[in-house]
Formats: sequence, structure tokens, C-alpha cells
Amino acid sequence: MSKEFKRYLVTSALPYANGPVHIGHLAGVYIPSDIYTRYQRLRGRDVIHVCGSDEHGVPITIKAKKEGITPQQVVDRYHEIIKNAFAGLGIEFDIYSRTSSDMHTVTASDFFRKLYDEDKFVEQTSEQYYDEEAKMFLADRYITGTCPKCGNERAYGDQCESCGSTLSPDELIDPHSTLSGSVPVKKATTHWYLPLNDYEQMLREWILEGHKEWKTNVYGQCKSWLDGGLQPRAVSRDLDWGIPVPVEGADGKVLYVWFDAPIGYISATKELTPDWEKYWKSEDTKLVHFIGKDNIVFHCIVFPSMLKAHGDYILPENVPSNEFLNLEGDKISTSRNWAVWAHEYLEDMPGKEDVLRYVLCANAPETKDNDFTWKDYQARNNNELVAVLGNFVNRALVLTQKYYGGVVPACGELTDYDKQTIEELSTIKSSLEHNIENYRFREALKDAMNFSRIGNKYLADSEPWKVVKTDTERVKTILYIALQITANIATAIEPFMPFSAAKILKMLAVEKFGWDSLGSMELIAAGHTIGTPSLLFEKIEDEVIQRQIDKLEATKAANAAAEVKAEPQKEECTFDDFQKIDIRVSTILAAEKVAKTKKLLKLTVDTGIDQRTIVSGIAEHFTPEELVGQQVLVLVNLQPRELKGILSQGMILMAEDATGALRLVQPSEAVKAGSMVG
Ligand code: 2FM
Ligand code: ZN
Repeated sequence: MSKEFKRYLVTSALPYANGPVHIGHLAGVYIPSDIYTRYQRLRGRDVIHVCGSDEHGVPITIKAKKEGITPQQVVDRYHEIIKNAFAGLGIEFDIYSRTSSDMHTVTASDFFRKLYDEDKFVEQTSEQYYDEEAKMFLADRYITGTCPKCGNERAYGDQCESCGSTLSPDELIDPHSTLSGSVPVKKATTHWYLPLNDYEQMLREWILEGHKEWKTNVYGQCKSWLDGGLQPRAVSRDLDWGIPVPVEGADGKVLYVWFDAPIGYISATKELTPDWEKYWKSEDTKLVHFIGKDNIVFHCIVFPSMLKAHGDYILPENVPSNEFLNLEGDKISTSRNWAVWAHEYLEDMPGKEDVLRYVLCANAPETKDNDFTWKDYQARNNNELVAVLGNFVNRALVLTQKYYGGVVPACGELTDYDKQTIEELSTIKSSLEHNIENYRFREALKDAMNFSRIGNKYLADSEPWKVVKTDTERVKTILYIALQITANIATAIEPFMPFSAAKILKMLAVEKFGWDSLGSMELIAAGHTIGTPSLLFEKIEDEVIQRQIDKLEATKAANAAAEVKAEPQKEECTFDDFQKIDIRVSTILAAEKVAKTKKLLKLTVDTGIDQRTIVSGIAEHFTPEELVGQQVLVLVNLQPRELKGILSQGMILMAEDATGALRLVQPSEAVKAGSMVG
């Protein structure tokens, strides 16, 4: 028997306010947590969902430096963007706070101070990397080097983004400062460490013995950390952005972002309600942390050790964490702009909030990394949301309008087929509940969609549009049942697609039903008048999808351009060698394709010296029309050679960009043909 809880405290990982959120964040954390919370709320349970922006840490200060603004300006910008994107997608929090708030500063400082006063920390002086040019210790992302585990040359001092390993600056091979590029020196500094080793036994019993039901990726990571043996972990940093260490003589030191961020869950709850302690300090509360897989160690090992050290707090019952979502076969990356950003999606696809929620849940990386593709998005919308869910609801409502002027007909005698359908529907609820309670949201979504699958089949088999010609009484029963199924759908899909659920309720002209009524065939009484039907989902055309694919292609091209390294310098030449080269500004007078070739153009150019013919292999890059009249640079004293029977007397100079595309090299303003270049 699983324990009955009186209330639920759901937390979603606080997103870093150094960039917007993307579909990977949504699929991994926020859509699952929103589904879970909405479901608990529908069941009438006491549940709160807390989140906020994580506004400290080195990536934020790096971004601020790059843009020449303050860290506060960075977090102010992204806090708004993130908060609005969540709201736009219907991801509901009881509070969306931020860790630069006063409440958080006080809460995190008090937390640290209590542990400090009770000697729960170890104070240690050690040699750490220091940038003598920037005059700064190089914490976390201020230092890069080669990952000792996978050889990635751009690993950070806290993590390698290529293989996902957690690192410390000392592990990096060939470290250098991201501030000045210089090779850092070692310098002594004092910090406070939480001796995780003191909590190892507690963690072993609590997780390895007590929570075998956790998802295998979470349990597995915890086991590997615990089996590896825990070490004391620094909870402070030498930085000027963060919560000052609340201890005398700790000038220039702040709390490590991973110390203060999870306390953000507590401060957000305090900001939400004066009754916050019942959520954090009572064994009757079920605490569930929804996180991404790169956060597992902090939520399962570090934060629980902090909570235990503090002594007053409960530990999480579960820490559901997903794997990663890729995008069109490639890892989502903020720095490479390889993402579908939530705020941009809302702008590009207005009214399609539920489509994204549906696709990200149906394709969630629950047990393995998964791929989001725009083609799959389109197919799921057109074949599942439009063809199954939308189609069923629309038929039920439109036929009711057509035959009964929108008045719900009375139910007559049930046939065996009706009874069988109702029986089938009645089994969905317990499966749906079981799947959500066990964080299997993909399966749960299938359950919720089953109402419309069964409904669609029911209408297709019962054919009220044909029966109406011969047996009007029977049609009443069919539509009565179809309308009850529609009302059930509004409840079943609400956690997953709240906008569509609200739309169905409006079209039915009824208030929201409670979860307990799910499966009932008496939700809407005969005689009730429904509202006006409209389409729940619309088919998404190829052009709309192509625009999104083009957007990603443009990103890919820009990334390729940024990544291409310049060719190494050629062998040295003498001034005399250079003097031999004769380059002249020339004007292209005529251009035509060379017959039976793909690449060659025959150009007539005015070099200022003469008019001559040049054959150039640029036909795949330029049309003859766009070349005529252009000024170009021509190497005029290149030995003539014959190409396809035409004598070519010179060479047009071109620049090849990173994508392999050719560009003309031209004077920035018109000059007289024949002008020398050198
Ligand atoms: O990975 C992240 O985006 C972190 N900002 C998550 C923090 S979760 C919590 F501890 F605040
Ligand atoms: Zn690595």
C-alpha cells in the first residue's frame, strides 16, 4: 500500500535566467510537472507548484560581460521572457519567483548561517586557479580546458557539455581562463564545504533501500555517485555576483549557485503563503522535484544533504527526471542557437499552444533521448489531434446542432454495442491515474486520447447520419452517448491540453467537471443546450512547417560559417614574386553559359587594357544576368589556357565563404577599369 499524503508540493527546476527556455526544457521538466500538478488539482488535492528563475552563477556574469551590461539587466530580461513563455503555454505555477528577490536572499543566507553556526561545514583553504590579468579566481565556467573523460577541448570547470560529466577545474587538461585567455596560476583561497560523506549512509538507506521505485536513470546515477564515495563539496565561490556569504571576513565570496538555487524552492513557497511550513516540514506532504537529468546529483545527493543538515525539512518522495530531447537529429544547444525557443514558438504559431504540449508529451524523452522533428509535429497534429480528437468532438457537436438545434437528446434503451463501448471507456480512468501517479506521461496521454479514439469508432460504427433516415430514436441515444464522451474528454485532456479542454467546455456550455466524474455517462443532462461548435484543431500545411525548417537551416548555415577555420597561410613569397602579379579592376561586359558544361561561364571583360575573354567555373553560383555590369578584380597576366575550346585570358578573383558559396571580390565603390590592385 502506498502512503496517502495530505498535500503535494511540486517543484520544477529553476531555469537559468541567462537565456530563454526551449522545447528541451519543456519536454524534460515543465510539461510533465504541469500535467502532474493539473491532475492533482483536478482530483481536488491540496497541491502547489513552485518555480522561479535561477539568477546567479557564472554563465549570467559571462553573458553580461559579453554584452556590456550588468548581470541584473541580463536576469531582468530573461526572467520576463521565461515567465511569459510559461504563461503563454499554460504552464501554471502558484508562484514563479526569482533568486535575486529579497525573500530568497534572506532565506538562503539564514539557511547557510544555521549550518555555519552548527558547524555543519568544513572550512578549507586550497590552491585554486587564478587569472592574474583579470585578477579573479576562475570558478566554474570562467575556466575551460580539455575534458579528461572525452577529450572535448571546450569543457568547463564545472561540466563537460559534450559527455555530460561533472568536473572540477583541477581535472581539466590544459586549462585557460575564459576571461583573458591566459594560462591561470594557482593561488590559495578559503571556502566552506558541505561534507557530503557525512550523509552517505543516510542517502544510501533513503534512496538505494527506500526508493527503488525511482526512474532507472535517477536511481542509477544516485547509485553510481554513492558507490564512488562522496566528498566534501564547496558551497561558496570567489565571485562578485551571488548572495554574499553571511559570515564576517568573507568579503568577495558568494554562495555557490547550486547551494542557493534549490533553497529557491523554499523561498518561493514562503513568498506564496505564510502557511509555507506545512508544505516543507510535514511528513504528510509529498514533495516531488521535476528536473532535467543534468540536475540529478544536486537534487538527490546535495540538496537532501543540505536539508538533513538543516534538520527541519522533509525530503522528496520522488525526483522524476527525463532524458534529453534532440532537435532534427542534433543535440539542442543554446550557444549554437539550435533550439525551438518557447517564446518564438508562441509568436510563430499563435493558437497552437496545445499542439506543442501534445507533441512534446507524446514524444517525451521519458526513458531514452528522443528527437523532435517538425515533420513529426505536423503528422501528430494532422493525424492525431485533427483526425481523431478534433474530428470526434466536432462530429458530436455539429450533429447535435443539426438534428436537435443544440439540445442534448434523451438517452433511450442501450444496445449491446453501447454497453460494450461504455464498459471500454470505464477502464481508462484507473490506467490514466496509475500512469500519471507513476510519472508515465506518454502512456497517460494515450489513455486520455483513448476517449476520442473510442468515440470516433463509436460514431463510425453507429453511423447516426445514416440511421437518422430510418430510426430517429436510436440517433438520440447515439448522440447522447457521444456528448457524454465529449464531456469526459474535457476532463481527461485537461492536464495535457488545457486550452482545448476549456474550449470543449465552452462549446458544451458547461462548467469544469471534477476528476471523480471521469467515466460517467451522465455528465450532461438531456434538455441542456450546448454552445456553438468550432474546430478544436486545424490542419497544419506544409508551408508552415517549411518555414520552421528553413529557420533551422539558416541557423545551421550560420553555425557552419562561424565554425569554419581559415585555411593556414601559404608558403612565404618574396616581394619580387608579388610584383609579378598584375591585378586590374575590370568590368564584365557580357556573360553566357558555355554549352554542354554545368560550371563554366564565358565572360567578356573590359580590363582597361583591352577587352578579353575569360572562362570561369562559376556558373553554379551566378547567373549571367547578375554578372553583367559588375566590377571585379582580374588577374590579367595569368598564362592563357584553353577551356572547352575557348581561350581564357585571366582569372576573376573570388572569395569562398564557409558554406562553399562564392562571392565576387569588388572595389567598395566604382573605379576606372584598368586600375591596378596591389
Ligand atoms: O539546470 C538548470 O537550469 C538549473 N538552473 C536548475 C536549478 S534547479 C534548482 F535547484 F533550483
Ligand atoms: Zn567530456
